[in-house]
Amino acid sequence: MCGIVGIIGKENATEILIQGLEKLEYRGYDSAGIFVSRDDKQEYLVKSLGRIADLKKQITPEVQGTIGIGHTRWATHGKPSEGNAHPHTSNNRQFILVHNGVIENFEEIKEEFLKNFQFEGDTDTEIVVNLIQHFAQTGMTTKVAMKKALTVIRGSYAFALIDKNDPTTIYVAKNKSPLLIGLGDDFNVICSDAMAMLNQTNHFVEIADGELVTVQADKINIEDEKGNSIYRESYEAQLDLSDIEKGTYPYYMLKEIDDQPTVMRRIIQEYTNAVGTTVIDEQIIRKITASDRIYIIACGTSYHAGWVGKAIIEKMTTIPVEVHLSSEFGYNMPLLSENPFFIFLSQSGETADSRQVLVQTNALGLPSLTVTNGSGSTLSREADYTLLLHAGPEIAVASTKAYTAQIAVLALLAKAVGDEKGNQVSIDFNVAHELSVIAAVMETIIDEKMVISQLVEKYLTDTRNAFYIGRGVDYYVSMEAALKLKEISYIQAEGFAAGELKHGTIALIEEGTPVFGVITDKKTAAHTRGNLKEVESRGANNFVIALASLAKETDQLVLPDVHPLLTPLVSILPTQLIAYFATLQRGYDVDKPRNLAKSVTVE
Ligand code: M6R
Repeated sequence: MCGIVGIIGKENATEILIQGLEKLEYRGYDSAGIFVSRDDKQEYLVKSLGRIADLKKQITPEVQGTIGIGHTRWATHGKPSEGNAHPHTSNNRQFILVHNGVIENFEEIKEEFLKNFQFEGDTDTEIVVNLIQHFAQTGMTTKVAMKKALTVIRGSYAFALIDKNDPTTIYVAKNKSPLLIGLGDDFNVICSDAMAMLNQTNHFVEIADGELVTVQADKINIEDEKGNSIYRESYEAQLDLSDIEKGTYPYYMLKEIDDQPTVMRRIIQEYTNAVGTTVIDEQIIRKITASDRIYIIACGTSYHAGWVGKAIIEKMTTIPVEVHLSSEFGYNMPLLSENPFFIFLSQSGETADSRQVLVQTNALGLPSLTVTNGSGSTLSREADYTLLLHAGPEIAVASTKAYTAQIAVLALLAKAVGDEKGNQVSIDFNVAHELSVIAAVMETIIDEKMVISQLVEKYLTDTRNAFYIGRGVDYYVSMEAALKLKEISYIQAEGFAAGELKHGTIALIEEGTPVFGVITDKKTAAHTRGNLKEVESRGANNFVIALASLAKETDQLVLPDVHPLLTPLVSILPTQLIAYFATLQRGYDVDKPRNLAKSVTVE
C-alpha cells in the first residue's frame, strides 16, 4: 500500500527520496511522486504513473532540494493516474501533502468546507490539503490549521505536509497507518517503514495516533492532542541492509522460499533452550491456559496459517480454537466464550482489517497476543503480548517464509501451553527436534527446484484455471497453495476440501484442468485419492504431492515423512515453487503482482 518518505536537512533530498521509494516498492503501488524544495525556494513536483523507474526518467538534473517528501500510491479513491498520484497541492499552491490511508468523510468535508475549491483529481488526499488551506486562510498557523483539520477528518492516515512559505519543517501525523521518524546528524527523515531509510539512519522514533510532529533538520517536536510536548526515546532498528537485498537471486520470492530452513532453525534458537524446552513468556502461557477458547484473527496467507495453527493448538492444548477472517469478524462478531484469548496473526503487523478487530477486543478488555514479523508494528504495540516470527524481512508480495514461520511459532506456543496443562500428547511432542527435521527436509525440497520447474511447464503452461484439493490440514495447505498460485501467476486457482468438490465445483473440471492433490494424512489419504479419481475420469490432469509413506509410484512429487502435525511446513514448499515457476514461465513480475500490496493498511 501507499508508502511515504521525507527528508529535511540534506543537500541531496531527491536522491534520498528516490532510494527510499525504491525500498518501499515491495508494498505495492501504481504511481509515485516527489516534491523537493531548495533553500532558495526553487521547488519541483514530479509525478508519474507506473514504477519508480518511470518517475526517475522524469527527474531532470536541476530537480534538487534540501527538503522533500515522496510517495508511492496504491489507488483507493480515483484510478491510478498521474493526476491522482501524490504529492497533492492546495488550490493556492502553498501546501503540499502526501497521505497513506483512507479518509472516510471526505465527501462531507468537501460539502461543508470546500464549496469554492477546485479539484484536479479524485483523491481524498486533495480534500485534506485544501482543508488545511481553508483553515490557514482563517488566520491559523500551519501547525494549528493541520491540527484543526485532524479534528475534522475521520479515517486512517499517515500525513506529511510541507508549507512552501516555510520550507524548514515537515508536519507529520498519523492515525492507524504506520509512520516513523528517523534521526540523523543535522538532518531528519520520515518513512512508512524503517527499511526505506536504513541507509540514512538506524535510529527511529515511533509516533502514536493523534500526535502531531514537526520535523526540522536539527530537531523534532512531538505534541499530543492537547498540545503538550512529549519526549520519546528513539530505538535502534534491528535490521541490516543486507537483509533487504536479494543478492544474486532473480526475485525476492525465490530467496524467501530458500530462506525457510534458516528461519526454522532461527525460531528453534529463539524459542527453545539448550535441552529443547520451549522458552515463551510465562504470562502468555498462563493467560492462554486460563482461557476457554482461542480466537485466531487474520487475513490472507496468515489466515491460512491460522487454520494449521488451530489443528496443532487443539491437539496439544485441548482448548477449542476458532479461526476468523479479520474483515468479517470486525463487523459480525460471533458470540464469544466466557474467557476468550485472541491471537492476531500478521506478517506485517500493520494490516488494517486485523487492527480494527484489535481495537474492539481492547475496548472489551480481552487479552491478546500478536504473532508477527513486524517488531514495533501497530498490532504488536497494541496487543498485550507479542511473539516475533524472526523470519527476516519478507519483501515479495507473496508471503512464503512468514507462513511457515507462523506455523512454527504457533506449534511452539501450543507445546508450551500443552505442557503447562500436563497434556501427555504435548509432553511427548519434541517440537524443537521435529522442527530441525523439517528444516533439513525443506532443504531437500528446495534442491528439487528444477524438477518442479519442469513439471510446471507440463501442467500449467496454458491453463486458465487450476485446483488444489486435500482434506484436513491438506485442505488448509490447498487454500494457501491456491492463493499463492493465483496472486502471482493470475491462473484462477481454488483450494477445495477434496470431499466437497463433488457438491458443485466438480462441474468446472474440463479436459486437461490441472488438479493438485495434497496427501499427507494417513486417515484421509484414501478418500482424497478417491476424489482425484473422480476428477480424473472427467478429464482432469492430476498432480499428486504426497508423503513418502502414503505415496504411489505414479505420484508427481514425493516428500520425506515428517511429524504428522507439522506436514504443512513441508507440503507447502513445492506449491510455493509451483507458483513461482508458473509466474516466471508466463513472464510476470513474481515479486510485484498487479493490484496487490504487501502491507494492506486500508480496510
Ligand atoms: O501482513 P499480514 O499477514 O497481516 O497480511 C495479510 C495478507 O494481506 C497477506 O497474508 C496476503 O494474503 C499475502 N501477501 C499473500 O501472499
